[in-house]
Amino acid sequence: MQAAPIRELINRLPSSQIRDVSEIGLGMPGLIPLWFGESDEPTPDFIKQAAIDSLGRNETFYVSNNGVPPLREEIVRYMRRIYDIPMEVDRITVTASGMHAIILTMQALVDPGDNVVVVGPVWPNLRETVHIMGGEARDLYLTEEHGRWQLDVQALCDLCDDRTKAIFVNSPGNPTGWMMKAEEQKEILEFCRKRGIWILCDDVYARIVYDRHHAPSFIEIAEPDDLVIAINSFSKSWSMTGWRLGWITAPAALEEILAKLNEFNIAAPTTFVQHAGVVALRDGDPYVEDLVQRLHRRRDLVCQRLSSFRRVRLAVPDAAFYAFVAVEGVENSYDFAVEILKKTKVGLAPGSAFGPSGEGYLRLCFASSDDSLRTALDRMEPILDAG
Ligand SMILES: Cc1ncc(COP(=O)(O)O)c(C=O)c1O
Repeated sequence: MQAAPIRELINRLPSSQIRDVSEIGLGMPGLIPLWFGESDEPTPDFIKQAAIDSLGRNETFYVSNNGVPPLREEIVRYMRRIYDIPMEVDRITVTASGMHAIILTMQALVDPGDNVVVVGPVWPNLRETVHIMGGEARDLYLTEEHGRWQLDVQALCDLCDDRTKAIFVNSPGNPTGWMMKAEEQKEILEFCRKRGIWILCDDVYARIVYDRHHAPSFIEIAEPDDLVIAINSFSKSWSMTGWRLGWITAPAALEEILAKLNEFNIAAPTTFVQHAGVVALRDGDPYVEDLVQRLHRRRDLVCQRLSSFRRVRLAVPDAAFYAFVAVEGVENSYDFAVEILKKTKVGLAPGSAFGPSGEGYLRLCFASSDDSLRTALDRMEPILDAG
């Protein structure tokens, strides 16, 4: 068949290797899927009920581009409560997911030929949004030292040049569970202030942290008009991956820009989903706290067991819900993930999906029931604990 005449750089976009492995396994009887970044728990009833109530009130029409006022106001209250910072509605734009927030942000900032420096290994989608805009994603990789992921702030700054539009930091990080320190954020903010570079911070795992209330965010230390944009999502902390709801916190100067971009992409996120989002934020703190407790137990269960396997090395994650493990002797993590899938019916994400520095690693999402996790580990033990 003749190739369809589409933009060259879209033609070049790679497919997600996480999806590629899952395509092989989905539908396998007895499969334990731990490849995607989502909890196996359905959305809690109080949030589902809020969507039903909204439909009952016939909230089924177009709404303002930046989001419905009750949700923008609730997000403001949430940001003040979590971070103890001043916040106003004109800084908030509601989006149809964290992913949508990221692509809108790239549409706003990246011209062809610009570059964005990205801290990796990282979820592949972030880098591809830069490529879609005709920009270059430059990687600065964390290194694993003494069982901890470490960032070299100086090396990050050294990668920036005159065409650097933004530094993209996802902390807590997917796939590593690394959490950036507040001092590192201060250094980077100072550097970006001097150079007029945007900071894009992906805070979608901000609440899923194991020894504190929330992860430090650039948004806590930045002034309201600093060039800082924070990406947030309802997907992870409120178990709402399928709803597609998120938000952007930006300087107020971007309010109209983001409204226009929302208009020309989707007009606005689904109306009754936004009304359910109000209730998730207003009444959801106990749910989030319980979820994090369950995830904490599962992190310990999975990490203790994985560390006991002879071929495995891992830095215990401070946050998020992934174990990112190096497996001795693995040179092609995609092939190895397929091998594990075929032999054990456990679905994992190959480390190479997160950039070249992830080669040799596998990512396991531990947001599943204790029983599924135990069974998955039992099945993988003969391969991962081989002498
Ligand atoms: C780092 C990171 N950012 C953003 C997202 C997007 O989440 P969503 O589009 O479901 O809001 C994900 C999802 O896995 C993620 O891991």
